[in-house]
Amino acid sequence: MVVVVFINKGFGMKKVYVAMSADLIHLGHLNVLKIAIEYGEVTVGVLTDAAIASYKRLPYMTYEQRSIIVENLKGVSRVVPQTQLDYVQNLRLLKPDFVVHGDDWKTGVQRATRQRVIDVLAEWGGELVEPHYTKGISSTQLNDALKSVGTTPDVRLKRLRRLLSVKPLIRVMEAHSGLSGLIVEKAVVEKNGHTHEFDAMWLSSLTDSTMKAKPDIECVDLTSRLMTVNNILEVTTKPIIYDGDSGGLPEHFVFMVRSLERLGVSAVIIEDKIGLKQNSLIETGNTQQQASVEQVCHKIKEGKQAQVTDQFMIIARCESLIAGAGLDDALVRAEAYIDAGADGIMIHSKSKTPDEIFAFCDAYSDFERKVPLVVVPSTYSQVTEQELSDRGVNVVIYANQLLRSAYPAMKKTAESILENERAFDALDFCMPVKEILSLI
Ligand code: SPV
Ligand code: MG
Repeated sequence: MVVVVFINKGFGMKKVYVAMSADLIHLGHLNVLKIAIEYGEVTVGVLTDAAIASYKRLPYMTYEQRSIIVENLKGVSRVVPQTQLDYVQNLRLLKPDFVVHGDDWKTGVQRATRQRVIDVLAEWGGELVEPHYTKGISSTQLNDALKSVGTTPDVRLKRLRRLLSVKPLIRVMEAHSGLSGLIVEKAVVEKNGHTHEFDAMWLSSLTDSTMKAKPDIECVDLTSRLMTVNNILEVTTKPIIYDGDSGGLPEHFVFMVRSLERLGVSAVIIEDKIGLKQNSLIETGNTQQQASVEQVCHKIKEGKQAQVTDQFMIIARCESLIAGAGLDDALVRAEAYIDAGADGIMIHSKSKTPDEIFAFCDAYSDFERKVPLVVVPSTYSQVTEQELSDRGVNVVIYANQLLRSAYPAMKKTAESILENERAFDALDFCMPVKEILSLI
């Protein structure tokens, strides 16, 4: 490779462009920059949170923090935001003579991005420079190491609002124990060049109660629920949305808010129910009463006053569609809850199709004051994330699927051992001992 060295700064300097996320700076980044400055004046396009979240996990540091770090790296003349994974927009704006990128993107998911860079540079005779990728270190390795270090309550708490500000749809999965929390933390699927993972965890009252072999009627007390939260906090870094049931009496709800916030939980969802709480999905014989709008608004206001940070979220859950009170009632309530200070609205349904949820979404899109919209597609599970996102839903909660899939598997194993009077026949349903020992 011929390296042209430009000694004169300023006039006559060639323009060089490098793009990076710069969340976890490592030697690989410095090696790329070292080569980039040999070609001229270096502008770094730091990917914005939204650009990164469009294809993988949200970065640890905010865009502002990451750009300050890059600005202070040796040889970097300036930093600009790169608002998309694709370089084209910035390249057409800056018309650099060179783009520098490690040669690792010649294969794999970034191939198409690389080709577009080459094509666009050709418009003004620019060139792509590809130094050898620095082996033995990667953001993925550092990311894993960071995960094992853990997080702080403050960082975790703020993460939900950060996610909401950069992702059109947040994917939330139920967790009911340390182990299920770990599954939500680590589950990842590579799809079309994008990394799919869960953004946050749902502390379901249904699955937490069921884990304790208790009905979902608020009989598992807050202290006990917080022990589950704590078990999950200990082994994960993702934000938590806590199912606060009805929130209890307003005088009690304020303590729930304080306790959750102190632990680093990002949000609580309280439902507009009064009297003995029943699970919303009960098919027949549900005698659940809906609380009055005034009662719910009062509780929301008390909760909002109790929280210490401005980051904690209180999300109001509207049960009008479940209670048979209809769409208009749901809309009136949602508007009142927002006026009372709710940071989000969860609209629930136990219909077998998403039609009533879609109708709510369509009417909600006309609201003057909107807050993030949350749905729980348990009974209408055929709905896709794309369909929900297209209708303006911001948070989708998969509320119970991990426990619902674990229970039949355990039961099958128990029955197999009873049937065969030995464990051998159940081995097919079990992970190898070697694997369970290396799991944690
Ligand atoms: C839960 O997961 O506990 C919920 C959602 O509150 S639902 O079970 O649909 O009521
Ligand atoms: Mg619940």
